[in-house]
Amino acid sequence: DRSIKIAPSILAADFANFGAECAAVEAQGADWVHVDVMDGHFVPNITFGPATCAAIRPHIKGVMDVHLMIAPVDPYIDAFADAGADVITAHLEAGPHIHRTLQAIRGAGAKAGLALNPGTGLGDVGHLLDMVDLVCVMTVNPGFGGQKFLDMSAKIRDLRAMIGDRPIHIEIDGGVTPQTAPLVAKAGADVLVAGSAVFKGGSVADPAPYGANIAAI
Ligand code: DX5
Ligand code: ZN
Repeated sequence: DRSIKIAPSILAADFANFGAECAAVEAQGADWVHVDVMDGHFVPNITFGPATCAAIRPHIKGVMDVHLMIAPVDPYIDAFADAGADVITAHLEAGPHIHRTLQAIRGAGAKAGLALNPGTGLGDVGHLLDMVDLVCVMTVNPGFGGQKFLDMSAKIRDLRAMIGDRPIHIEIDGGVTPQTAPLVAKAGADVLVAGSAVFKGGSVADPAPYGANIAAI
């Protein structure tokens, strides 16, 4: 179903070759490049920041989709926008002022995304939908790639109903594989993040598996 966009997460890529990995995975059919920013505070892992985003920007022709698993978020929004992020997604759980954060992301010229951890319901989402271009439904507890998929189909269906015909993406993030993708696509998702399922078996030197892995999702 090619109306579904695939957004490989570079968390599963070769950390010594991010630029080349972004170019390779796009050449193999990736629609977006998903960049998992982790601060070791909001999530128990540390990855990379605005400088890495700026460094890989020239190697990405399409959408650079930046997922901020950081708290606080607001002090860093401009740095990620300046680094060239097309979408900046903040977690609802990252602090008390999500409304201000979403305003600041759009104010910085990026599209605004709202990420929901598996434990977070939709109760606080409805009135924010006019402030977002994307809602990211986490199907793992954030921090690591290669985790087991958590089935959030009911939440995705309810969210799709809330969105109605507004141009808002539902992005699914975590544990997406050829086995789990149909489930979330049926529930109403249109952007699927996949790290381990895309990068497994390939490398910058041999990127063909990336294409086969993307096609299989
Ligand atoms: C987890 C990240 C996800 C993760 C996806 O905190 O937000 O994007 O990298 O990796 P896989 O697809 O391997 O679960
Ligand atoms: Zn992510």
